[in-house]
Amino acid sequence: MAPTPLIFEMSRPGRPGVRLPGLDVPSRPVESLLAGAALRRAPPALPEVGELEVVRHYTRLSQLNFSIDTNFYPLGSCTMKYNPRVNEKSAALPGFARLHPQTPPEASQGALELLWQTERILAAIAGMDACSLQPAAGAHGEMTGLMVVRAFHSETPQGRKRRLVLAPDSAHGTNPASCTLGGFAYKEIKSNRHGLVDLAELKKHLRDEVACLMITNPNTVGQFEESIEEIAALVHGCGGQVYMDGANMNAIVGAARPGDFGVDVMHLNVHKTFSQPHGGGGPGAGPIAVKKHLEPYLPVPVVARRGDSFVLDSARPKSIGRVRCFAAHFGVYARVYAYLRSLGPEGLRRLSQHAVLNANYIAARLKDTYPLAYDRPCYHECVLTGERFKKYGVRTMDIAKRLIDHGFHPPTVYFPLIVHEAIMIEPTETESRETLDAFCDAMLAIAAEAKAAPEKLHAAPTTRSVGRFDEVTAAREPRLRWRSHDGHPPAPHP
Ligand SMILES: Cc1ncc(COP(=O)(O)O)c(C=O)c1O
Repeated sequence: MAPTPLIFEMSRPGRPGVRLPGLDVPSRPVESLLAGAALRRAPPALPEVGELEVVRHYTRLSQLNFSIDTNFYPLGSCTMKYNPRVNEKSAALPGFARLHPQTPPEASQGALELLWQTERILAAIAGMDACSLQPAAGAHGEMTGLMVVRAFHSETPQGRKRRLVLAPDSAHGTNPASCTLGGFAYKEIKSNRHGLVDLAELKKHLRDEVACLMITNPNTVGQFEESIEEIAALVHGCGGQVYMDGANMNAIVGAARPGDFGVDVMHLNVHKTFSQPHGGGGPGAGPIAVKKHLEPYLPVPVVARRGDSFVLDSARPKSIGRVRCFAAHFGVYARVYAYLRSLGPEGLRRLSQHAVLNANYIAARLKDTYPLAYDRPCYHECVLTGERFKKYGVRTMDIAKRLIDHGFHPPTVYFPLIVHEAIMIEPTETESRETLDAFCDAMLAIAAEAKAAPEKLHAAPTTRSVGRFDEVTAAREPRLRWRSHDGHPPAPHP
């Protein structure tokens, strides 16, 4: 397939897409309106392209997109989940979509009620006492939760010395990053042979400086931390808090509540569990839920109920303050609320059951060919290894690239870091058995190719408009800006 040109390359001087009507007011030289630095020295380097070419260009580009709406997208951990259209429809209702963020509470009661109710439903699902919808992504939720923990500890002289966060070595990369941003030191705890927190290792690190344990449950290898109650008791015993990265709640909604197994504070990734396209760090939402003792520290403003009305309450002296502008990413929660209400408690429970069933189905079909990193039933995702194909000169990256030729988006690869040649597959709850089978058939066909014709995998993908990148050059010499054929950058801006 020929590469798609950039719209700048299609540009021909003097070929307009739009004709503006003649002026019906007296013209004035631009210098009389703008002066100095604000004045452009040269016209902007906009492409000159006819309307039909513009339409075709962007339609072609949209068709190159690989998306959950067109194909299976089993990205482990980052989760590309189908979002029912009714959620989009709800978010697009004019009363929601046209609401200005500065609208005073008196004139936005419906929207505030939606946020208030969503908080309560999410807190109930998590088994927690209060919830804040403010954080704009899972990672932002982590940082906000850690700020809450810090504010809590800051109340006592002993607590102020607690600057260490413990976390298992299977943790998502955002966990250490959030700790650093939150002003904590970070210490990894080795996992045991089942991919779970090693209790003996944990005990070695429990001491007075521990602010909290940051634990993902189910964790990033798709396993439920079976000793979570014991782990929580140990951490509490040394005066620490238990933070749960609840990104993987889609495996246990309606089956287990973190508040019941000892968690003090957690975040939820709504894009993974409650319908919302993945914002890639924002604009999304990573609400946090807390137990009663941490509620005073939640960010302001808090959506509060006063009789039959809803207000934005900022009179919370212990609050960590604002972590974003306005009360929340409202459009995200319009979707989340529609999802929660349309599924209801039973539907949400079944969502998790199906997510777990689908992941186990894939694991069962593939594990003889691609061994499981931890050979036991999994939750929402299964982690396989491509280790055995190394002897044919084939790496996990080659398997992933070849999947593209078979029409599938590759799963997450090389994560979690504790699994060699990791292939992390998360099918989500909405895929049919036929789709799962087609994917497994492709994985098995690729395994056969790896032995018989590894060069096919090395060359993959060969059926797309873009082939395999030279990733080293792309990282070392990134070309991030368009230049014309003669190497000139776009016309300079003032
Ligand atoms: C386990 C885990 N923690 C944290 C995150 C970070 O979430 P976000 O991408 O919304 O910042 C992810 C990503 O989905 C995740 O899988």
